[in-house]
Amino acid sequence: MRKDITLIMIKPDAVASGYTGDIIKRIEQEKFVIIAMKKMFLTKREAEKFYEVHKERPFFGELTEFMSSGPIVAAVLQRENAVSHWREVIGATDPKEAKENTIRKLFAKSKGENAVHGSDSEENANLEAAFFFSELDRI
Ligand code: RTP
Ligand code: MG
Repeated sequence: MRKDITLIMIKPDAVASGYTGDIIKRIEQEKFVIIAMKKMFLTKREAEKFYEVHKERPFFGELTEFMSSGPIVAAVLQRENAVSHWREVIGATDPKEAKENTIRKLFAKSKGENAVHGSDSEENANLEAAFFFSELDRI
């Protein structure tokens, strides 16, 4: 069976709150293979580039300020149906609407500061993985 990838981030709120280990544990429990992973500090300009699709949205300024407010962890994860499975595991964008035991229900602070990112399609997963990691990193 073909295995897909997704690009995930542990966002600044979750890194600062000390949830990195819990989230990596969950990644492994969900049978994802970690293809590449790094901790880094996005600049505002880099966050604006990553979230370019949202540049006309009212929350763009707040989102890119937040994403460049502290370190993040970015990773490429692989398993069957990686994009859709990760989105099930993380839950709704707003933790108030997220199901029990999803990462956002467990760890997110608010709709803006919501602990983790996940790609929304296979096409975007490949683009986002290439944003953070070289081809060599992803072999
Ligand atoms: P993500 O891309 O981070 O995985 O989140 P998502 O697909 O669930 O949500 P999306 O619509 O792509 O929004 C991207 C991120 O923008 C922030 N946001 N804030 N204050 C607001 O109304 C609002 N709406 C979205 C969140 O951090 C969201 O994850
Ligand atoms: Mg999204």
